[in-house]
Amino acid sequence: MSRDTLINLLYLVAATTFIVALKGLGSPKRARYGNVVAAVGMFIAIVATFFKQVDGHSLHHVPLMLLAMVLGVVIAVPAARFVKMTAMPQLVAIFNGVGGGAASLVSITEFSHIHSSHPATYVVLEVLLGVLIGTVSFSGSAIAFAKLQELMTGRPVTYAGQQVINALLALAGLGVIVAILVSSTSALLWVLLALSFVLGIAFVLPIGGADVPVLISLLNSFTGLAVAASGFTLGSNLLIVAGTLVGASGILLTRLMSKAMGRSLPNILFSAFGSAATGGPGASGEQRPVRSGTPEDVGVLLSLASRVVVIPGYGLAVAQGQHVLRELAEVLEAKGIEVVYAIHPVAGRMPGHMNVLLAEANVPYEQLKEMDEANTELTTADVALVVGANDTVNPAASEDKSSPIYGMPIIHADLAENVVFMKRSMRPGFAGIENELLYNAKTTLVFGDAKDTLTKLVAAVKAN
Ligand code: TAP
Repeated sequence: MSRDTLINLLYLVAATTFIVALKGLGSPKRARYGNVVAAVGMFIAIVATFFKQVDGHSLHHVPLMLLAMVLGVVIAVPAARFVKMTAMPQLVAIFNGVGGGAASLVSITEFSHIHSSHPATYVVLEVLLGVLIGTVSFSGSAIAFAKLQELMTGRPVTYAGQQVINALLALAGLGVIVAILVSSTSALLWVLLALSFVLGIAFVLPIGGADVPVLISLLNSFTGLAVAASGFTLGSNLLIVAGTLVGASGILLTRLMSKAMGRSLPNILFSAFGSAATGGPGASGEQRPVRSGTPEDVGVLLSLASRVVVIPGYGLAVAQGQHVLRELAEVLEAKGIEVVYAIHPVAGRMPGHMNVLLAEANVPYEQLKEMDEANTELTTADVALVVGANDTVNPAASEDKSSPIYGMPIIHADLAENVVFMKRSMRPGFAGIENELLYNAKTTLVFGDAKDTLTKLVAAVKAN
């Protein structure tokens, strides 16, 4: 078997592992396994690449490549290890941005190599699309990072004629591509680069912080496409497969997230959702009475229950209360009370946020119920324990046609006999809108940090 055939075979093995890994990542139970499989595949692909020969010669600049890899490992491993769970979307934004930037750099280098040899038009087109998409992904991800990290306002940044200006920028980018193809003026590449950079920023500015995770998933998909374009340029089947997998899964995830938020993708990208505060007790200045209780009151209520549905949300992640929550569930179970967790697909700030958070506390996977099943469980529940969730249980999503979240499927906490909310104040959730459930006669509010309240609840239930 020739060296080339062997390397291509190893690439095929790597491509297969990526597909198997994606399958594994589809379920929290097998996600770790999926990650390991992908890492092994990537390792095989990298090692095989070092044995490649180009025009009968071994690879050039191997020490430089190794140095770049060491630098990457030194930066990325601690960043991934020590990042807080709530800051994970920012990390994904950076990793995605550098991926897009790298694909763009590959395309720029390739353009300077192929330009003099007058290749077929489609080859140049692939390279130029790689520059456009990769750079948009790079600068767009940088702005997404700045929004999530609160380095700039998380609200949509809007100005008059914004959509028209963005459309013109996109058209200008495509126009420059056509001009390069027709005139072969290589200096225009820098114009394309600059336009793509500005387009990435302009595209992301009007998207509000609430929608940024969806945007990151979309940019991730763009990066995949840019990588696939690099694959065509470099004649690498593996890059084409890997890039297409990232592109396709990014688009699927984007669709799933938009659906779970009850909104269309164009609405997320172009409606500047969240530019003005909509409702909320603070906004109206209205003071309506709510029923608040102490952890001791709720401890009694829980001890008398036979079935409790926990509805976790973003606040649980902020409070890092997942371990105490599991402890509370164990104390309740020891009293013969059944406990399950209702998982909304967009609870928290990233896909699977609650699954990951609860898995970290070793909550048994069988106790996690997806939204539809959870809603059925709630009809027979004595207590719905809402821990740091808000929008995902807001009845306005199904009852108030004028609400910005109207149409989003929700967890119907109000189906339970009693509803207990744990939050720190009357502030609204991510969508910035009032939640009628807080004022419902069934509802008791326990104000305070979720972890503190949960700790007190554990003691209160034990005492009963
Ligand atoms: P939110 O509606 O954002 O509500 C979080 C609640 O947690 C708030 O009411 C907040 O009230 C409370 N909270 C914050 N810190 C707390 C702490 N330390 N202790 C106790 N409570 C605390 O959360 P959700 O129900 O999970 O909904 C998620 C939202 O994010 C949805 O609007 C969704 O569309 C959006 N979103 C999600 C995703 C993904 S993929 N998950 C992506 C994009 C957008 P206080 O401030 O009063 O404590």
